[in-house]
Amino acid sequence: ADSQQQQLIQLHEKAAEVYHHMLVNTAIGETALDYLHKRGLDDQLIEEFNIGFAPNQRDFLFRVFQNESLDSALFPESGLFVERENEALVDRFYQRIMFPIRNFQGKTVGFSGRFLATEDLADKDQPKYLNSPETAVFNKREILFNFDKARGALRKSGTVYLFEGFMDVLAAYRTGVTNGIASMGTSLTNEQISSITRLAQELVLCYDGDQAGIEATNRAIGHLQETSRIGLSVVSVPEKLDPDEYVKKHGQEAFVNLLEHGKETVFSFKMRYRRMNKNMANEKEQVEYVQELLHDLLNVDSLIEQDRYLTQLSTEFQISRETLQQQLRDLKRQRR
Ligand code: GTP
Ligand code: MN
Ligand code: MN
Ligand code: MN
Ligand code: MN
Repeated sequence: ADSQQQQLIQLHEKAAEVYHHMLVNTAIGETALDYLHKRGLDDQLIEEFNIGFAPNQRDFLFRVFQNESLDSALFPESGLFVERENEALVDRFYQRIMFPIRNFQGKTVGFSGRFLATEDLADKDQPKYLNSPETAVFNKREILFNFDKARGALRKSGTVYLFEGFMDVLAAYRTGVTNGIASMGTSLTNEQISSITRLAQELVLCYDGDQAGIEATNRAIGHLQETSRIGLSVVSVPEKLDPDEYVKKHGQEAFVNLLEHGKETVFSFKMRYRRMNKNMANEKEQVEYVQELLHDLLNVDSLIEQDRYLTQLSTEFQISRETLQQQLRDLKRQRR
């Protein structure tokens, strides 16, 4: 890395240290620390992920940096500040719980800050999460939250869990599932997929159980199947919960159990997904359902699985297996 990148990283490492200090050692951070404890993050995890708090003050970090006589030339490019019209710099992050985002080498290159609502500060005009902007060291298309820490466990098991949010990665981490990662709240990019497939043979999608999470799961499956040959499975979190909420409600053991035994095949997910917006009592929609699933079946590599699902469809809709197989062959030919 060139020296500008080195310096940008240094600024982030310094900022992380300052935010962390505010959270764990000062009265200003008390509300935030209580909030994190209530959400089930213990001190050890807060240390390990170097979580911090940015106080509700627009010149907090700026003043600290000035007092440390850090070279201000790179402040504007760091993403830690925003420029006012008069070119004065103010902190980008304030009144936020700060999650350092590390690159694959474990260096802090950005932040995601979660707004901390209090009695006198509602969150209506604030985005829940605010991320660092793109900089010379922070590339959202490449970054994956916790990928550096997940690496070891990932290499050993070959499996990676993909979650929607940081809090889900942290919830999983607490239960001993350390090979969990998340993108920056966006859909997976090709760059992220190639980083993942370089280390993992299997990817388990474990997004939020709400409608948005189910749609995101379907999109991720499509993208992953188009761009890679990684083994895929899906864990659907019940009751529309996200993994973090699930741990909170049902406990760590139940969650580990869900990840271990609640995995389903992509096709099984598709069967539920394709049904969701259909009235299955309507014959026309039934036929559409079968046709959509035959398309999905083209992406099933295992012949055993294929056979099994053909039988299932044949039985459920009383269509002969021969017809289904013929149709599948036709689809295959069309695709080529
Ligand atoms: P908690 O409410 O803290 O549990 O967060 P969550 O992870 O459950 O949030 P949610 O399911 O709403 O969103 C999933 C992910 O999308 C988050 O972890 C963020 O990365 C991202 N995200 C959510 N809200 C925002 C937002 O307002 N702005 C941006 N940039 N990203 C967001
Ligand atoms: Mn510490
Ligand atoms: Mn969500
Ligand atoms: Mn969520
Ligand atoms: Mn959540």
